[in-house]
Amino acid sequence: MRTIIKNIKQLLMVETAPRPRVCGAEMAKIATVDNAYLVVDDDRFVSWGVMDNYQGTADREIDATGRMVMPAFCDSHTHMVYAGSREIEYTDKIRGLSYEEIARRGGGILNSAKRVQEASEQQLFDDAMLRLHEMAAHGTGAVEIKSGYGMTVDAELKMLRVIRRLREQSPLTIRATLLGAHGIPLEYRGRQEQFVDLVIEQMIPRAADEGLADFIDVFCDQGFFTVADTERMLEAGARYGLRPKIHANEMALSGGIQVAVRYNALSCDHLEFTGPAEIECLKGSATMPTVLPGAAFFLNMRQAPVRQMMDAGLPVAIASDYNPGSSPNGNMQLILSMACVTYRMLPEEAINATTINTAYAMGVSDRLGSIARGKEANFIITKPIPTYEYLPYAYGENKVEQLYIAGKRLV
Ligand code: NIG
Ligand code: FE
Repeated sequence: MRTIIKNIKQLLMVETAPRPRVCGAEMAKIATVDNAYLVVDDDRFVSWGVMDNYQGTADREIDATGRMVMPAFCDSHTHMVYAGSREIEYTDKIRGLSYEEIARRGGGILNSAKRVQEASEQQLFDDAMLRLHEMAAHGTGAVEIKSGYGMTVDAELKMLRVIRRLREQSPLTIRATLLGAHGIPLEYRGRQEQFVDLVIEQMIPRAADEGLADFIDVFCDQGFFTVADTERMLEAGARYGLRPKIHANEMALSGGIQVAVRYNALSCDHLEFTGPAEIECLKGSATMPTVLPGAAFFLNMRQAPVRQMMDAGLPVAIASDYNPGSSPNGNMQLILSMACVTYRMLPEEAINATTINTAYAMGVSDRLGSIARGKEANFIITKPIPTYEYLPYAYGENKVEQLYIAGKRLV
């Protein structure tokens, strides 16, 4: 079936020579077409151009007068399968407790783990599906989802099975990450390496054997897992073909970025503590530096040096980190605004960071993340808006009117 979207005020992020990711100064540019049309055959983009030049017929015509069309957001870092909420700890933080203090008391990640262990698979699925709808309503078309609130072999596998069901039942593109090493269960305090053994000997083989994970993640940071722990787990993951995407340098200059690059991670994420040595190490690597403005905002943390990264020629991806502890929101439009306000990214840089670069960070930039011939037709039609700069500018307002996934309207 041929669809034409016509009278598009401005078509964003078109690529005739698709790039896997966009780096450095290139991030400040996005290709646009004014007064455009876009042709979609079934689930694929076919062509585009200026309205005056359009000739041909279509089975379906969509009038986008006054509206922008752009690729759907890709959200390459979430923990959006979880049970309950943590607003009481949020209030404790306002009163002055730190994230690390809350974690040490058995709160934080361990609090969510207890609730996930108690929750049924069905409940976890139902809650996550509602969140996924909400994310789609704000323009997200692809989501990476981590386990990590299980802490036991059974609960981790339960989370991964929920992700598999979401993948089967949602039209969104979903990738699953095994985050067995997210926190240290209380009963393993003081003998952390034995918990690492459990991840290596049971979680990784079982998740891999059931085909439940695409990637492996470790929270490699001060107060959590060490570089040595991380190396052991990434090596075990590699034996099962699981490429790393790791949490690094949120709490300290932990060596997480270096270990990510050494193990050819697809991404390393958070990066609030990133110095010149870390930037140097990322140069020339295939690892996508990924920054999570929602978590930095919510925890009121120091900011990752995004401008220095881009000045050094690095690509940057920006994701939501949707989770109950440090970023209870999966609205990528809000994340786009935060990227501009917090990191002084230009709207063009932030758009590249939330589409093509996050697509790279979840291993799908050959199929998604820009409007290119042959790529899957995952796109947003905005409400009538004056400019694309209005997208991050009007923060908190939902500018998405329609979302198409593989050519089919979902929102
Ligand atoms: O990405 N930093 C580690 N993990 C999550 C937080 C998880 C939680 O607090 O529940 C994050 O921010
Ligand atoms: Fe995270």
